[in-house]
Amino acid sequence: MSIKRIAICTGGGDAPGLNAVIRSAVVAALNRGWECVGIRDGYTGLLNPEQYGERGGLIELTRSMVENITHLGGTILGTSNRGRPFQDTALDEQGNEVWVDCTDKLLAAFKRERIDALIAIGGDGSMSAAYTLHQRGLPVVGVPKTIDNDLDGTVITFGFDTAVSFATECIDRLHATADAHSRIMIIEVMGRFAGWIALNAGISGAADIILIPEIRYDIAKVAAKIEELQAQGVSSAIVVVAEGARTKSGSQDFTWAQTGRLGGAGYQVAEQLAGLTEQEIRVTVLGHLLRGGTPTTFDRLISLRFGA
Ligand code: F6P
Repeated sequence: MSIKRIAICTGGGDAPGLNAVIRSAVVAALNRGWECVGIRDGYTGLLNPEQYGERGGLIELTRSMVENITHLGGTILGTSNRGRPFQDTALDEQGNEVWVDCTDKLLAAFKRERIDALIAIGGDGSMSAAYTLHQRGLPVVGVPKTIDNDLDGTVITFGFDTAVSFATECIDRLHATADAHSRIMIIEVMGRFAGWIALNAGISGAADIILIPEIRYDIAKVAAKIEELQAQGVSSAIVVVAEGARTKSGSQDFTWAQTGRLGGAGYQVAEQLAGLTEQEIRVTVLGHLLRGGTPTTFDRLISLRFGA
């Protein structure tokens, strides 16, 4: 098939390096003589272009538009973090809100806009969605993105290095204040159900305890480790908690089931520890700070390669 016009979309949570991928994909496409458009906010720009008024749901990507964006966090296209990218809500006969499949509508929109192929940049949700389009005949290239580094069949995703580097720097900073007050400092990091960020930042930042989703923790063992440190003359402790870390009873599973969001794991550890130690405890939640900011050199380079 001869390609004349391609589309790029960014889906799921943003990650540092998205703009670098867009830049190099656009430059590579234009060098081949292809036109290149960006879809706003995941697939929304194609599915619901009326939302964007005169601006339209597509952005014509020119050389000048991507000239100076390699170092920028976020995404110039916007993104969407909805769990069901090809579905929209509608009312059923009883007036209840239901999900409706929009794959046909989306494929028709690709055709209407004369888009021959798609570069889908995203994590597991976006890749599953892109695979559906591929199965329905659209040529698709998937680019693995996520700070969590949890994409199956992928050695490393872009965004991860930036997130880990920043988390490590934060742990370094907490050491000083932890020592000054002889406190237990708990630091919660993102990562969804993968412990990559917690483990890599925790080891690099010389944390004393690292709790990851892959191994359910026993708070008594955490308290025992802190006591052991004290017996060795170490008066402070750094505890890195992945947002998906779960106790043996699995209380985080409950939070996820209720809200579809994680968060609060650090405070849960603090609450449980408070009953087991006399030491003062403070909690820092890094949250979305791990997603913002400029990509590291490593992330810029893999992102530019992926895009090209
Ligand atoms: O997948 C990336 C990620 O940042 C996870 O680490 C986190 O659980 C989630 O997205 C947060 O999503 P939101 O931005 O919707 O709160």
